[in-house]
This record gives sequence, structure tokens and C-alpha cells, in this order.
Amino acid sequence: MIEISGLRFGPAAHPILHGIDAAIPAGRITALIGPNGAGKSTLLNLIARQLAPAGGSIRLDGQDLLQAEPSQLARRMAVVAQQASVGSRVRVRDLIGFGRWPHCRGRLGAADRAAVRDAVALFGLEGLEQRFLDELSGGQRQRAFIAMAYAQDTDWLLLDEPLNNLDLHHARNLMAQLRQLAQARGKGIVIVVHDLNYAISWSDHVVALQGGRVAFQGPVAEAATAERLTALYRTPVMLTLLDGRPFAQYHR
Ligand SMILES: Nc1ncnc2c1ncn2[C@@H]1O[C@H](COP(=O)(O)OP(=O)(O)O)[C@@H](O)[C@H]1O
Ligand SMILES: [Mg+2]
Repeated sequence: MIEISGLRFGPAAHPILHGIDAAIPAGRITALIGPNGAGKSTLLNLIARQLAPAGGSIRLDGQDLLQAEPSQLARRMAVVAQQASVGSRVRVRDLIGFGRWPHCRGRLGAADRAAVRDAVALFGLEGLEQRFLDELSGGQRQRAFIAMAYAQDTDWLLLDEPLNNLDLHHARNLMAQLRQLAQARGKGIVIVVHDLNYAISWSDHVVALQGGRVAFQGPVAEAATAERLTALYRTPVMLTLLDGRPFAQYHR
């Protein structure tokens, strides 16, 4: 479990996050939702230790995450940032190999190469391994970064808007794979997501942010009501059931 307590970020006069308290369960998919500028990426980057908080604490399975050794943390948590980038003259295969760094310090052995092959297959990158990143479509590049994070083989996977750029097929496939990783392998997955149906119908848990504060959180079925979603996005959201799962309508 990731336990966030009193987490603040930004200058005291203009805080970006105001004392966030949140609990993110292990082995489940947690959707981090909320309007643009709510602080979702900031919160994700604080958990990933890409940013330093102004105050508060983050505990990972009871351990103070802010004090953890970076090399130890890299074996527990993998992250794909919203604007993930490396040099464009990096090949897909090598990018995914970077994910093995915490395990092999850049000297890939048989197990590391097997993990890279596994990630290539899982994220549909066969045939693209030799391509440079700047020779990929946006969606292919997105999948390459997710494959890198997967190859890192951690208990936790943090993905900032992983569905961006993905077509219907790849978006659905990715969500199905994330569910599989959570259910069968016990990975804790945190995704920033704007498509409400992926948030409410494919995720287990939700943390909604608004203006740098938690608007609501909890198991999706209890926390994500039509009323709360409507207020969160200032857009009428209707919830119905489709095959026993919640379905959101908000396009009309
Ligand atoms: N580097 C930065 N410096 C100052 N303000 C920032 C910076 N990055 C983001 N912000 C501001 O912090 C707020 C939260 O941003 P962000 O976490 O990226 O939101 P979200 O991911 O929910 O869209 C926004 O108001 C944004 O303008
Ligand atoms: Mg963001």
C-alpha cells in the first residue's frame, strides 16, 4: 500500500498540492482522475520521487519512501511520465533494455534479454525492436516506454496518461494487460486517465483530485458516483450499468 499523508507541493503562497491524504492499495488498479491542472502529474511525480515535496509523507508498505535508496526504489517502482523522453536516436530494444538497469547495471544477461523479449511481445512491439524512437508513431512510442517500465519488473507501475495516443485496440489491450498484471501478478498500478469508462469500469480504486486537493477517493463502486463525477469535471455525467459494469455517458 502507498500511504500519502499531508503531502504538500509548491510555494506556500501558491501551493500546487494542499495536504493530500490518500491510500493506494497494492495489487489493484488505481485511477488518478480529475480535470487538467488538478495536480495528478505532480502527485505521481512526487510518489516516483521525481519531485521533492514541501511537506508531508509517503509510505510504501510502511517504509518511508522519501528516505528510500534510489537503487532500492527502482526495483520496487517503475514510472512512465506524461512527457516521457530519451534521446530520439535510441532503438526500441535498447530503450526496453534500460528498464533492466536496476537489475543488471547495463550488462544484460540471459534473464534480462528474456525480460526484454517478454515486454516486446506483451506490448505488441514485434518487428519494431530495431527502430529508432523517432521512427515510431506516437502510440508505438508510448507502448515502447510502457514496455520499458514493465521490463523493470517491479511491484508497482505508475503510468501518467498511458492511453494517450493509443487507438481503440491498443488502449483496450493495454487496460486488459494492466488488469492481468494486477490480478494475476499482484502488481499495484496507478494510472492517470481521462477516459471515464477506463477509470470506472476497468479500475478498482479511484483517487480524484481537484485544485490540488482530494475531491473523493475509494473503491470505484462506492466513490465514483455520477454526482461526484459531474461536479469534478463540471460536465453532466450519467452512469448506467452495462453487462453489470458501470458505464459513463458524458458526450451529450
Ligand atoms: N514546473 C511547474 N512550475 C510551476 N507550476 C507548475 C509546474 N508544473 C505544473 N504546474 C502547475 O501545477 C498544477 C498541477 O499541474 P499537473 O500536476 O501537471 O496537473 P494535471 O496532471 O492534473 O493536469 C497546474 O496548475 C500547473 O499549471
Ligand atoms: Mg498531467
